[in-house]
Amino acid sequence: MTDIFEAIQRTAKRIKIAIDTKDIGYSQQENSSGETQLQLDIKCDMIIEEEFSHVASIHTIASEEKEHEMPMHKAGKYYIAYDPLDGSSLIDVNLSVGSIFGIYENAFGAKNMVAACYVVFGPRVEMVFAHHKTKLHLLQDGEFEFVKEIRLKEKGNLNAPGGTQQNWEPYHKELVDSFFSEGYRLRYSGGMVPDLHQLLLKGGGLFSYPGTADKPEGKLRKLFEVFPFAFIYKIAGGEATNGHVDLMTLSHKGIHETSACFFGSKYEIARVKEVYAKNR
Ligand code: F6P
Repeated sequence: MTDIFEAIQRTAKRIKIAIDTKDIGYSQQENSSGETQLQLDIKCDMIIEEEFSHVASIHTIASEEKEHEMPMHKAGKYYIAYDPLDGSSLIDVNLSVGSIFGIYENAFGAKNMVAACYVVFGPRVEMVFAHHKTKLHLLQDGEFEFVKEIRLKEKGNLNAPGGTQQNWEPYHKELVDSFFSEGYRLRYSGGMVPDLHQLLLKGGGLFSYPGTADKPEGKLRKLFEVFPFAFIYKIAGGEATNGHVDLMTLSHKGIHETSACFFGSKYEIARVKEVYAKNR
């Protein structure tokens, strides 16, 4: 696992340089989710693919920017699914973005996840790696330094509601509003990585991306976004659900499948489950 951890650190340093220096323009290609790919997305995907190609323990990779899985080393045992630059449309307004990595053993799938990691590219570059503990690292003078272990409180005070409100189910709106009525504050940038990072570091709250009339299975991808964050939140003492079951119990069909998702502290996720149970 150390070889993978170190490879991710190398990708983060190179992606930081790419973000700082690369011209931003739209490429003509669309990715598998139908979004126009930024040149920077493609560049970051290539950086990660190249760094992982040097790691013998990696058997197969799957990227948000690639249609299909890509085999790497036959003798390796790890399967890594990654989103090279999540929230990349925020780059042109200079908001934070991130890379997300789900590390699976022997095959892709929530039950095979053994570690997860994300890197936030904000005013500072930070990396959170969850294996047996969720640990925060900061890039300083060209190297990642361990900062602290991250633990969520039982209850937070931030509310990050995703999705198009017009298409929310009425009970979902009531759920979101119920937290605001309790004094929770709105924190939503439209970047999954910085939004979930903020909740983790400020002690907790709720990040929701529900199924909606236009997207019944939500927007966020299981292998690259949902499972890694579910794993990270659970190791940090929080919870993750699709409204009914623990996200880490879900299966997946294909590498780009999506799921409704809720991440938070125990208190908020208990409320989500209660409201969703009544509205099955
Ligand atoms: O996956 C892409 C993404 O940009 C996430 O980083 C983010 O949480 C979400 O989409 C935002 O979607 P919306 O604009 O629909 O709230």
